Amino acid sequence: MTINAYLHKLSKLHRHSQQVILDNQQHGGYLACPTMPDYQFSWFRDGAFVAYALTLDGIYNMVPHRAGMSGQWDSAMKFHQWCARIINDRADALERTISRAALGQPLVLADTLNARYQTEGAAGPADWPEFQLDGPGLWVWSLAKYVEVCRVKPLPADWECAVSLVTRYLTAVWRSPCYDCWEERGDDVHISTLAAIYAGLGAAQRLIPALSVEATRADIRTFILEHGLTPTGELAKSVGLDMVDANLLLAALPDDGLLAPDDPLMIRTVARIERDLLVEGHGVHRHTADTYYGGGAWILLGLWLAWHKTQTGDFAGARKLVAWAEAHADAEGNLPEQVCDVMLDGTYYDVWVQQRGEIANPLVWSHAKYLLVQHALRGA
Ligand code: BGC
Repeated sequence: MTINAYLHKLSKLHRHSQQVILDNQQHGGYLACPTMPDYQFSWFRDGAFVAYALTLDGIYNMVPHRAGMSGQWDSAMKFHQWCARIINDRADALERTISRAALGQPLVLADTLNARYQTEGAAGPADWPEFQLDGPGLWVWSLAKYVEVCRVKPLPADWECAVSLVTRYLTAVWRSPCYDCWEERGDDVHISTLAAIYAGLGAAQRLIPALSVEATRADIRTFILEHGLTPTGELAKSVGLDMVDANLLLAALPDDGLLAPDDPLMIRTVARIERDLLVEGHGVHRHTADTYYGGGAWILLGLWLAWHKTQTGDFAGARKLVAWAEAHADAEGNLPEQVCDVMLDGTYYDVWVQQRGEIANPLVWSHAKYLLVQHALRGA
C-alpha cells in the first residue's frame, strides 16, 4: 500500500492528532498546550509519552518526511536530542545532587531537574512545583523504545551520557518525596513516580548493559510492596494513603514496567481505579480529592485505561473508552485535558478558569494517548 493510501485510511482524529503533535514541536521540545500560557512549556513526562506514541505510530502510519523517513520518527528523535541536551547541560548540578544524596545531605532544588522547560531549553518560571522524578524515568523508557524500533546503533554519545547521568541521579534520589505526575503533594512519596523510575532504570540497562540498576530496582520493588499498598491490598496513590490514583496505570508500562498487566496486584489496583474513579460513560477522574478545574474526567486517562485494557485483551472495553474520548473532540478535532460533564467539586471550576484560563485544549499529551491506543487496537 502506498503512503497516501495508508494516510487516507486513517481516521480524521488520528491524522489530526499527528498534526497537533508535529505542529507543537519547537526546538525539539513539545508544548504541552499551545493555548494556555502556563502550559506553553515542554515537560519530560508529556514529551516522553508523545515520543513513545510517535515511535509506534511511525511504524505503520508514516507521515511523509523530506528526508525519506517518517515525520513521527524525526520528531521523536528531535525530542530525545532535546532531553539529552537539557540533562547534559545540567551535569554539574546533577552531580552535586548525587554527591549530596550519597552524604545524606538535604537536596538543593536548584541542582535538580526541572519539570517544565522553555522549548529553547531554559527552565520555566520558578513558581511551579518543579521537583518531579517520574519525567526523567519516563524519558529513558521512551528513548529505549525509539532506539529499539528505529534500530539506532550505536547509541549516540550524548544520549549515552544523558542516560548514564539520569540513571545515577534517579538511583541517588528515588526515595525523596517529590511532586507527583499531577504536580501535587510534594511532601509525599508516590507509587506512580516510583513505578516510572523503575521502568526508566530497566530501560537504561537495556540501552547500556554495563549500567548496574538491578539492586535499585529490587529496592524499589521491595519498598513498594512494604510501604506502597492500601489496607485492602491495592497499590496506593502515595505511601500511607488509603487511596488509588489513575496514574497507577504507570505500574504496568510495557517493556520495563513494575507489574505485568495481568499481575493480581495490578488487577486489584485497576479494579479499584474503576470502582473509585471511572464514571460509566463519563471517563476517568485522576483521584477522589481532585479539585483542579472542578475535578472532571481526563481524556488522557480514559485513553490510558483503554490502552491498558488492550494489554489485558479487553478490546471491547478499550473501544468504549476510545469512543468516549472521540466524542469529546471539539469541532476541529482537538482533545482537551479534561471534560467537566461530571465534576468532583464544581465550586473550583471558576477559580481555576480565573487563574489559568479555559481548560487546556488541545492538550498534546491527550493526542499522544489517542495514537497509542490506536496502535494497540490495530488489527485487534
Ligand atoms: C498535569 C501534568 C502535565 C502538565 C502539562 C498538569 O496539569 O497535571 O501531568 O505534565 O499539566 O500537561
